[in-house]
Amino acid sequence: MPVISAPEITRFVEQILVAAEVPPHKASIAATSLVASNLRGVDSHGIQLLPFYVDQLLAGEMDPRTDGRVISEFGSCLHFDGQNGLGQWIADTCCRHAVRIASAQGMAMVVARESNHFGAAAWWAQKMRAAGQIGIVMCNASPLVPPWQGKEGRLGTNPICMSVPGPWLLDMATTTVAAGRIFKAMINGKPDIPPGWAFDSEGVPTTDTARAYKGMLMPLGGYKGSGLAMMVEILCSVLSGGAMANELGGIRFRGKTVRVSQMFMAIDVSRFMPVEEFTARVERLVKVMKTTPTAPGYEEVLVAGDPEWRREAERLRNGIPIEQGNWDALCKTAARVRVTAPVV
Ligand SMILES: NC(=O)c1ccc[n+]([C@@H]2O[C@H](COP(=O)([O-])OP(=O)(O)OC[C@H]3O[C@@H](n4cnc5c(N)ncnc54)[C@H](O)[C@@H]3O)[C@@H](O)[C@H]2O)c1
Repeated sequence: MPVISAPEITRFVEQILVAAEVPPHKASIAATSLVASNLRGVDSHGIQLLPFYVDQLLAGEMDPRTDGRVISEFGSCLHFDGQNGLGQWIADTCCRHAVRIASAQGMAMVVARESNHFGAAAWWAQKMRAAGQIGIVMCNASPLVPPWQGKEGRLGTNPICMSVPGPWLLDMATTTVAAGRIFKAMINGKPDIPPGWAFDSEGVPTTDTARAYKGMLMPLGGYKGSGLAMMVEILCSVLSGGAMANELGGIRFRGKTVRVSQMFMAIDVSRFMPVEEFTARVERLVKVMKTTPTAPGYEEVLVAGDPEWRREAERLRNGIPIEQGNWDALCKTAARVRVTAPVV
């Protein structure tokens, strides 16, 4: 399995994006955020996404040159039209607006429509955290999930992410797992996935990777997951006036633009208490969780963010292992746009 350092793979990803006609400053934002996901061990939302993005770009189904535009800004509310631009650029722009508005108003709610896939939500929510704010980020996604008791995809894996000053960061799909975990199994030739992840195309639960790849994802916790996905849908697509539910395309499907909507909320902690005090309170709360006696079979209690921070420390030290199927797909994509792969 190739192992590559974060700076080296970031350069490679950036070169591929530029060769696919993404302006260099946008390619740099996208490459950095994708590799950040691999660093955190969230490989489903790292470089694995690039071949799909390049397919979209080469098919002319995304416009990497547009910057998007602000439709309106009133007080703490900003409405953005992504104009089918690069998802990472739109997310970066919206986060900058959210941080600016929350600094001035105490809170900000930015909703974008006509956007594209922005990778892992955590990268964006952490922009607010870096400014001493609470960041909440959501987006809708291609309709690969039936609502509970249904057997046809209507909702997306609609992630919810919240990042705060302090050692806690929740970033989760509203399905048992993100779709990218099934794509990863497929790309790397793993025949089986764990039970509880997916349905086949008839709505029957399956552990067969190929059937799941053509099938659907399971809502998280049954009807509660469907409820959360609807909440995301309402805050993203309904509120922004964007494409809803099965009106969306998907990064794997050509002939239709993706048209996702995204929501970026920022809360300025200092309007309530000094950031240091807030951070200390979060630390105290986390400690209460971590000092819980462990259940049989477990050595410790973790909180959201722990697995990824640990993985990040390790991968920054030792490099990022890329599964062979993902590496081959990346090199194939590089060849399509005439970029030479680094020797690994
Ligand atoms: N852009 C999109 O369209 C889209 C759609 C869906 C998901 N995603 C992304 O997919 C990524 C993966 O989502 P997922 O749901 O598969 O993640 P996951 O199930 O691996 O983790 C979800 C959360 O649980 C926490 N966690 C994991 N193990 C834990 C433990 N033992 N104790 C306490 N907390 C624990 C993690 O820190 C994380 O915050 C996310 O980055 C998400 O933003 C993106």
